[in-house]
Amino acid sequence: MPFTHALADPRVADVIDRLFAGAQHDEAAAARVELPEGFERTTSQQRADALAEVYMPISADGGRLLYNLVRATRPATVVEFGTSFGISTLHLAAAVRDNGTGRVITTELSKDKIAAAGRAFAEAGLDDLITVLEGDALDTLAGVEGTADFVLLDGWKDLCLPVLRLLESRLGPGTLVVADDVDLDSLKPYLDHVRDPANGYQSVTFPVEDGMEISCRL
Ligand SMILES: C[S@@+](CC[C@H](N)C(=O)[O-])C[C@H]1O[C@@H](n2cnc3c(N)ncnc32)[C@H](O)[C@@H]1O
Repeated sequence: MPFTHALADPRVADVIDRLFAGAQHDEAAAARVELPEGFERTTSQQRADALAEVYMPISADGGRLLYNLVRATRPATVVEFGTSFGISTLHLAAAVRDNGTGRVITTELSKDKIAAAGRAFAEAGLDDLITVLEGDALDTLAGVEGTADFVLLDGWKDLCLPVLRLLESRLGPGTLVVADDVDLDSLKPYLDHVRDPANGYQSVTFPVEDGMEISCRL
């Protein structure tokens, strides 16, 4: 193997670089998206449609953190809520590739984003490890059988707690659950849940960009 790990594979690195460049470019476009009053109270699908061209990715450091966490824990099944254009998914799948075992199941509402992410996964040569479920995570993830051995929650923040509750019976002791953007108010109910040990988690905030909450199932 001419490279040290899958994130250094030029096919993977080029796609990730291109997607991050697109995300940076689109920050200006995102600022121009006119969101109607009460936007945060519209349906998940309406929000996904309005933001269908906006990446909203994890940070580069956040991606490397996810890679390391998945390498260290060697999960059989990684479950992700919120694919977008696939930046986080590529980091998760790169770690699965280097583990030599496991798979990534990710879910997304936007058809256009799913099509673009699928092309990126193929271009990176990681598509054989990734299953994208199209639809609302509250429906799609209900149908996933077996344990969830590593979880990334990065869809709409008000849904992170319901999605966690949906998966909770499938989390074994020691399973890591990561949520991005701890600074957002809409993530507060989720944070209150995982930060209370009575709910079965030991939780810590990791200071990468907007902050990732890393919670270990007890
Ligand atoms: C913050 S972005 C995800 C960014 C991605 N994890 C990355 O690092 O590139 C959130 C995504 O979640 C999707 N989403 C929001 N609510 C959803 C739901 N209920 N089911 C499936 N996808 C959802 C949105 O369409 C959006 O693309």
